[in-house]
Amino acid sequence: MITGATLVAGVAGAPVRHSLSPMIHNAWLAGAGIDGVYVPFSPPADGFVRFVKGLRGGAVRGINVTLPFKEEALMAADDISPRAELAGAANLLVFSPTGMVLADNTDGLGLLHAFAVQAPGFDPAAGPVAILGAGGAARGAAAAFAQSGCPQVRIVNRTIQRAEEVAGTIGPVAAPYPLDRAAEALAGVNAVINSTSAGLSGQGDLAVPLEASPDAAVVMDMVYKPLKTAFLARAEALGRRTVDGLEMLIGQAIPSFEAFYGRSPPPDVDVRALCLEALAQ
Ligand SMILES: NC(=O)c1ccc[n+]([C@@H]2O[C@H](COP(=O)([O-])OP(=O)(O)OC[C@H]3O[C@@H](n4cnc5c(N)ncnc54)[C@H](OP(=O)(O)O)[C@@H]3O)[C@@H](O)[C@H]2O)c1
Repeated sequence: MITGATLVAGVAGAPVRHSLSPMIHNAWLAGAGIDGVYVPFSPPADGFVRFVKGLRGGAVRGINVTLPFKEEALMAADDISPRAELAGAANLLVFSPTGMVLADNTDGLGLLHAFAVQAPGFDPAAGPVAILGAGGAARGAAAAFAQSGCPQVRIVNRTIQRAEEVAGTIGPVAAPYPLDRAAEALAGVNAVINSTSAGLSGQGDLAVPLEASPDAAVVMDMVYKPLKTAFLARAEALGRRTVDGLEMLIGQAIPSFEAFYGRSPPPDVDVRALCLEALAQ
């Protein structure tokens, strides 16, 4: 029930209709007994900054930001966290009562959460990793690994210029590779992270020789629709441990919830099961 005291937060994207975030946050709110609501917003493509200006001031606690507004979200902010700065994108805007907009990026935390849950014992600082793709998601992942002490972050992309750009932002710990040198990039890594959109439903597999990675390498795909992409299925067939994109989505929502409501999500609400049910429909 919405009351005069209901706390409001949400997610902005275009399209936003299929976002699982409202389900995740509203289940946590109900489980925690918080008088709050989390709603989807679909700002006009050319009006994101105007939309944020309209919300600032504290009446709305904040919003998560998804495609295509993650880069623009930085322009709407008064203050940007170091990890959002490094990622060049924000997935979280928090509105302070004084009218300030604080931009953060919790996608990297979500990625590390997913590894911690599904590949226990994995240490991001223990060896090189390869990130496939050079979009916003790759940038966030590269920043998270670099900040966790990873000795080398290899950025592998179809368009080499984009890989070079990302590596340039991350610094000397990052190395760019074209997709046709993926075998070289995968040699000796502790993890392979697919951050391209190639695995999305109906888009086919990414032609990368996963067998070039060591047997002990963990393989992750950020795409969660389908949950088991062709890429993850190939990794499983090779006997590799795998991590899925749904656990990353849940992982990025945890610090977002904490920023909106000032407390951790209740541990006894199984949001993964709810998401799996929604994805199966
Ligand atoms: N699980 C989560 O919580 C989570 C969070 C963030 C993002 N994601 C997912 O991660 C994916 C990437 O997001 P993004 O924001 O980084 O997108 P983006 O900025 O559009 O970047 C897409 C990347 O995929 C590459 N790519 C696309 N199709 C390809 C193909 N057929 N072969 C080789 N490379 C291909 C592009 O290469 P070029 O540069 O050569 O075009 C680019 O590097 C999306 O599917 C998104 O849904 C998941």
